Amino acid sequence: MSDNAQPLQPHQLQHIHAEEYVSALQTHYADLPWTQEAAAALAEVPFDRGAPNRYQKPTERINDGVTGWITHSFGPRRYNISRVYKGLLCGKSPIDLWLYSANIWEVKPRTIIELGSFQGGSALWLIDQAQAMGLDCSVHSFDILDKAVSPRANHPRLRFHHADLKQLETFDVGLLESLPHPWIVIDDAHVNILNTLSMFRQHMQPGDYFIKEDTDGLGTAGEAFEYLSLAEKLGFWVDGVFVDGFGFNVTTARNTWFTLRSSEPHVHVHGSSRDITWDPL
Ligand SMILES: C[S@@+](CC[C@H](N)C(=O)[O-])C[C@H]1O[C@@H](n2cnc3c(N)ncnc32)[C@H](O)[C@@H]1O
Repeated sequence: MSDNAQPLQPHQLQHIHAEEYVSALQTHYADLPWTQEAAAALAEVPFDRGAPNRYQKPTERINDGVTGWITHSFGPRRYNISRVYKGLLCGKSPIDLWLYSANIWEVKPRTIIELGSFQGGSALWLIDQAQAMGLDCSVHSFDILDKAVSPRANHPRLRFHHADLKQLETFDVGLLESLPHPWIVIDDAHVNILNTLSMFRQHMQPGDYFIKEDTDGLGTAGEAFEYLSLAEKLGFWVDGVFVDGFGFNVTTARNTWFTLRSSEPHVHVHGSSRDITWDPL
């Protein structure tokens, strides 16, 4: 089972402001009747541990194919004028955008890596978000169709690269090794996902995140289990704070908000001789 008994480290506690809020309520609004109720309710929340059952083994996640929110309910051709950021197509769900914002704030990434650039709208949102938080962070987004990225997806801390995830050797390893940690890696390309996870794991460090989006595209329960089993062998934990933040699996990254927690012996696992690929568009 997960080691939830372990309290958060001091550097993690800086993100938790409930005590400050309760204290402010008591200081300024002590005579309002609900102040004490709010303080009591907040006192019940295990803020010292992040959340109950925060870190979970990938294969221990219930995987019954049901998500609290049918993330693809918008239909297969769902891009329209409502699905844009600064006029650029952006396929992110609104709930995932909020989860990413919270994750960026907590992790304070130096690097965000996006696999699957599309028009560049999501990468632009990511760097704007990091910049709005004052972070020293850059976004690197990779796509086989990198020429389809709009010139309007332009920011000094945002770079687009060509890469073919079916041929992982097309990744510039020197570039990856030069990118400062912590990392948030977002796999939104849905190509060769087993080997992609294995390859990135070799370059990741404790505290980094790897989020695999659109996991309801994993066709069979067997494929989903194969992916989660690989994640577990590679030493990833599922972070319940994000994956279940709005209800069980209410995210397009169903069961797949992965993080590395400690510097366990580095496990090198080859992904698979086969590849799991699907087209979510
Ligand atoms: C779901 S879209 C990305 C959406 C974008 N991240 C967003 O949120 O708006 C998937 C992307 O994967 C890219 N892709 C497909 N096959 C690929 C491959 N073999 N290597 C790299 N990227 C690939 C597609 O060109 C497409 O831009």
